[in-house]
Amino acid sequence: MASIYQPAEDSYLMSRILKEQLPELLNKNPDLRFLEIGAGSGIHLQTASRLGVKKENIFSSDINKNSVNHCNLLGFNCIYSDLFENIEGKFDLIIFNPPYLPQDSNEPEDSSLATTGGVKGNEIILRFLNDAKFHLEKNGKIFLITSSLSEDINFQDLGYVEKELGCEKLFFERLCIWELKII
Ligand SMILES: C[S@@+](CC[C@H](N)C(=O)[O-])C[C@H]1O[C@@H](n2cnc3c(N)ncnc32)[C@H](O)[C@@H]1O
Repeated sequence: MASIYQPAEDSYLMSRILKEQLPELLNKNPDLRFLEIGAGSGIHLQTASRLGVKKENIFSSDINKNSVNHCNLLGFNCIYSDLFENIEGKFDLIIFNPPYLPQDSNEPEDSSLATTGGVKGNEIILRFLNDAKFHLEKNGKIFLITSSLSEDINFQDLGYVEKELGCEKLFFERLCIWELKII
């Protein structure tokens, strides 16, 4: 079975944005319903909990059963699901640090589940965006990471309006977090 993705630069960028954005969102809505797709090590579930999202309002999933078991052991509601396949209900905030790299035959199978987004790199993100809009509350938001290494996405063509929340320049790529709302 695949190993659990250990927090890296993309995870830390998402943590920073959650710390910047969640307090104000919680101020407006203390009952904010939070969903993370692809929870991995559970780093963002712990951040959301520490920042004040009620434990019963934190939901998560992963396609890696090791991650699901790990997040359950941390005390979080985490289910096995390919994107939204097994997810019911609507959420005020959905976050996803997706596999976003283009396919690379040298990438070990064990890690590619967490890192490879398809031939162009953006295929999993496109599938995610097609379904996410059906799981957003009115005025709900998505925080999504993209990489300069994968093909660009036209969010408006997919029915979203975007705002850049923060970027990180790494040695060989640029990562950005987008806030997306339904148009
Ligand atoms: C880049 S890792 C991010 C992990 C963690 N959220 C973080 O920021 O450190 C991507 C995660 O998405 C999961 N994943 C990949 N494809 C998925 C899918 N189709 N549905 C749900 N989760 C998926 C992987 O197993 C992995 O845990």
